[in-house]
Amino acid sequence: MLPQLLAVTVLAKAVALSAFAAGPAPGQIKNLVTFGDSYTDVDGHADGGIMWPVFASEDGNFGLFPFAKSGATCSNNLTDRPFPSVFESQLPTYFAEKANGSLTALKPEDTIYTLWIGTNDVGVGALLTGHQTPGVTVVDTVTCAVNWVQTMYNSGARNFIFQNMIPLETTPLYSADSYPNRYWTAQRNTTEWSVFMKELTTSGNAIARLELQLLAPTLHGAHIGFFDSHSLFADMFARPQLYLNGTAPLNVTGAVHSCVFQLNESTGDPGVCTDATGTDQDSFLWYDELHPSVQAERVVAKEISDAIHRRSEKWITWLS
Ligand SMILES: *[C@@H]1O[C@H](CO)[C@@H](O)[C@H](O)[C@H]1NC(C)=O
Ligand SMILES: *[C@@H]1O[C@H](CO)[C@@H](O)[C@H](O)[C@H]1NC(C)=O
Ligand SMILES: *[C@@H]1O[C@H](CO)[C@@H](O)[C@H](O)[C@H]1NC(C)=O
Ligand SMILES: *[C@@H]1O[C@H](CO)[C@@H](O)[C@H](O)[C@H]1NC(C)=O
Ligand SMILES: *[C@@H]1O[C@H](CO)[C@@H](O)[C@H](O)[C@H]1NC(C)=O
Ligand SMILES: *[C@@H]1O[C@H](CO)[C@@H](O)[C@H](O)[C@H]1NC(C)=O
Repeated sequence: MLPQLLAVTVLAKAVALSAFAAGPAPGQIKNLVTFGDSYTDVDGHADGGIMWPVFASEDGNFGLFPFAKSGATCSNNLTDRPFPSVFESQLPTYFAEKANGSLTALKPEDTIYTLWIGTNDVGVGALLTGHQTPGVTVVDTVTCAVNWVQTMYNSGARNFIFQNMIPLETTPLYSADSYPNRYWTAQRNTTEWSVFMKELTTSGNAIARLELQLLAPTLHGAHIGFFDSHSLFADMFARPQLYLNGTAPLNVTGAVHSCVFQLNESTGDPGVCTDATGTDQDSFLWYDELHPSVQAERVVAKEISDAIHRRSEKWITWLS
């Protein structure tokens, strides 16, 4: 019971300290600046179409400043992958643009900064398969993500949304009845992967929440929202009829674009693909074995823009 008690005490303290102004005011936020991985990269189109920041900026009438890049982890120091990580690439790009006058439109009071990271940090080629820098654990990758808030605050940013990890163990890649696919074709025990992935996502999210609850009261004048992507995706998985609206039978286990490979086949091959087309696509939770569908992205976008404009507190907790 100790962690729960600690969480309750810390939360009570954080709420008490910021009771007058938790979260931005409705209408306050005009700009959305996004960091993260393929779940947020507006140029990567990892959902096969339009990504949530674009929908959210339309829904919420925000100026969009996208920095997220496909394949990213929080830091290549921790999990070295050949992709533009948050700390070694996305933040340096942001600071370079800030320094050369490209971002003068962004005023701290009317700009919100988002981070959705972790999918690659805990996944194949990183923690799940033991490819991290020796000694690195989920504590380090999550603490790195929380440090993004401190780093941005130090540079003047004041409004933040931290999006936690989804239940990755429910994606086709990490589910117990997975199959060889574009992300992994080598021999594996899919049950063990799914069990381990559930440990990583749930423990990582708990660590993030506790660390942010401790950080929030120390950042004077900041608003930090903890967006519970995990619960939102768990609800879409459990009750798809509330979210999915395509013309095929609702499907939370398969994917719009699912490709089956042979064991040990090169992941550079095309695989044998089955594609849902047209309005059938909106019946799926997943676009491929790892990524949410366009309809899932629309749901995320609506919930984020409703949270920012204070129309809903359903999936967000304002820690300050
Ligand atoms: C990554 O490593 C470099 C070199 O040791 C260090 O300067 C930098 O602060 C590290 N970055 C993070 C995010 O830990
Ligand atoms: C500002 O910096 C960014 C990132 O390095 C660069 O892409 C952009 O061209 C620069 N703009 C100006 C006006 O120097
Ligand atoms: C896979 O792992 C599970 C859980 O450890 C175990 O029960 C099962 O026997 C394993 N399957 C194979 C084929 O080794
Ligand atoms: C499903 O709902 C979204 C709004 O969330 C809408 O844009 C889309 O066109 C709908 N899809 C279908 C197939 O009706
Ligand atoms: C879900 O989609 C997959 C394709 O990825 C398909 O094989 C499966 O039969 C579908 N399940 C249902 C319940 O329609
Ligand atoms: C797949 O590769 C592993 C490791 O190289 C090997 O032990 C296994 O026999 C291969 N299986 C098939 C079906 O090729």
